[in-house]
Amino acid sequence: MRVLENIEICIYCKQILEVKICWRFKLTSYIGQSELDELVQGKIYDHIVVRRLINYALPYYKWGIWAVIGMIGHIFSMSLQPLIIAWAIDGFIVPSVNFGPNWMTFNLVCASFFGIIILNMLSNYLQYYSLARLSVRVLADIRKSMFDHLQRQSTAFFDRTIVGRIMSRVQNDVNQLEEFMDIGIITVGDIAMLGCIIAIMFFMNPFLALVTLSTFPILIGIMIYWQMKSKPIFVKVRTAISSVNASLQENISGVRVTQSMNRQDKNLYLFDELNAAHRDAAIHAAKLSAILLPVVDVLTIVSMGLVIIVGGLMVFEGTLELGFLVAFLLYIQRLFEPVRVISMQYTVFQRAMASGGRIFELLDIHAEMKNEGKLQGLVPSKGHIQIEHVGFHYDNGKTVLEDINVDIPPSTSIALVGLTGAGKTTLASLLSRLYDPTSGKIILDGYDITNLERSFLSNQISMVLQEPFLYSMTVRENICYNRQEITHEEIEKVTRHLGAHEFIMNLENGYDTVLQERGRNLSMGERQLISFCRAMVMNPRVLILDEATANIDSQSEKLIQDAMRIMLKNRTSIIIAHRISTIVNSDNIIVLESGRIVEMGNHEYLFKRNGRYRELYELNFQDE
Ligand SMILES: Nc1ncnc2c1ncn2[C@@H]1O[C@H](COP(=O)(O)OP(=O)(O)OP(=O)(O)O)[C@@H](O)[C@H]1O
Ligand SMILES: [Mg+2]
Repeated sequence: MRVLENIEICIYCKQILEVKICWRFKLTSYIGQSELDELVQGKIYDHIVVRRLINYALPYYKWGIWAVIGMIGHIFSMSLQPLIIAWAIDGFIVPSVNFGPNWMTFNLVCASFFGIIILNMLSNYLQYYSLARLSVRVLADIRKSMFDHLQRQSTAFFDRTIVGRIMSRVQNDVNQLEEFMDIGIITVGDIAMLGCIIAIMFFMNPFLALVTLSTFPILIGIMIYWQMKSKPIFVKVRTAISSVNASLQENISGVRVTQSMNRQDKNLYLFDELNAAHRDAAIHAAKLSAILLPVVDVLTIVSMGLVIIVGGLMVFEGTLELGFLVAFLLYIQRLFEPVRVISMQYTVFQRAMASGGRIFELLDIHAEMKNEGKLQGLVPSKGHIQIEHVGFHYDNGKTVLEDINVDIPPSTSIALVGLTGAGKTTLASLLSRLYDPTSGKIILDGYDITNLERSFLSNQISMVLQEPFLYSMTVRENICYNRQEITHEEIEKVTRHLGAHEFIMNLENGYDTVLQERGRNLSMGERQLISFCRAMVMNPRVLILDEATANIDSQSEKLIQDAMRIMLKNRTSIIIAHRISTIVNSDNIIVLESGRIVEMGNHEYLFKRNGRYRELYELNFQDE
């Protein structure tokens, strides 16, 4: 009997442990939410989301089958334990009092109990392990699909969509699904076990089963009421933590500005306000959560008391065996706890369905990389560009470029000038097909660029952006970003040519120095030089430099100017620059104003013309 008691204690401890695990999940679910996610109140079950999740799970169906087998074993062993105890009492203890011990039954009971415990351990392990393998793979696949899908979206898509929102979907929504997959499926097991226990109780003694379940409606009523009351509080906690996270993120990213303006105290004060709001909401939520455990305990004890009184009387009358009474008492514990856990997981389900909906909504956005061309152009390309009647507007419909006509013969350079907002960057973006013109066409060596294969086009046209984007990889990897096969000798030839070799060699690990996020551990000029090298290893026929010298400090300027001169040689080039020295030598200068070409010609011609160019020259370039 002592063995049986110890086993029972172990089982009870395990239940407590399970409850604690659920609490841990609950707490982690508060962290890292975004406000967008939390304000949405999803359905508790969304057939479409579940069906699509199942599609992701199908390739790993074997793990699903193992998980179900584990779950069935677990339910079976958990539901059978009280019955074995009943058997021990009615088959061994009670007869032993009257007729002496029946060791045969005792041995059988012990063997069954041992068997059930082994089954319980193995099936539980199988259940959790298989579920973990399944969910980890499904989530990895979902992340991969999202990454792949996002990479295929057009530049216009990223113009319309806030990056924070995309990140929220990729990170928080997937985390939400992870939580759901971890505990959601276990919850299905809990519900199945609940049904199983109720069925066994009715099978054993329908009347006592009704007595046991008499407090159940009260519990369910309290749970529903609790749900209603607690929902807004939990939403508040999550909204508050997302404000805290947003503030942390913004302040850490902008720490240089904070320090340079000495705003630490003010920022701390503002952060503290948000933090305090979250703290208060969390305390409120904790108070609400803490109410549940005593409620469940009280109802469990009330039910037990009822069963002891009614069942006890039945035992005296001889209509119920003592073992069955004990089994009923054990079943009561198993009955109430899952209801509490399920009701607390209600929000997990709801959020997971909303998250799943948002993830699939993102995956359903049609990849907008329009008109993937099929043609290969001339190899080697001549680099002859004709811009014919090009017009363009962004998604908002406001005309940005209007009837642009330019002929750029091979190996010539043109400069785009104009006031801010004139449309220079936009025109450059059309040339590298970040966007397609809304009217007219751009022709490379006689081919409309929308008919050319993208990979071909990107090998012919390289664009260096005003703010070079470097990845947190080594210098070498950044340079050969799009030409992995290139040898070190070739890389070095380019870097020496552009005058970048010396400073790279002075870095801690030379070409193998890992750059920080966006190349923060390099100066602007150095970043620019590396992005030049990246463009140059592609050996493009057409080079577009968008205000590439705007951010350069005067020390690096000469280096950059020299590098640019070398880069532009024998190439078709389009330069957008504010520095007069970069553009005076251009073969053709185009003056853009509100999306239209107002003047075109070389420096001498435009200067003498005394028009818009001369004005801009005097305005912008006089300090050169
Ligand atoms: N992604 C976008 N979505 C909507 N409108 C945009 C977008 N990018 C630019 N615009 C608008 O298009 C116009 C031209 O912008 P563009 O960036 O081409 O100017 P720019 O000549 O390069 O100016 P700057 O000299 O300041 O770089 C501006 O009015 C701008 O507001
Ligand atoms: Mg620009």
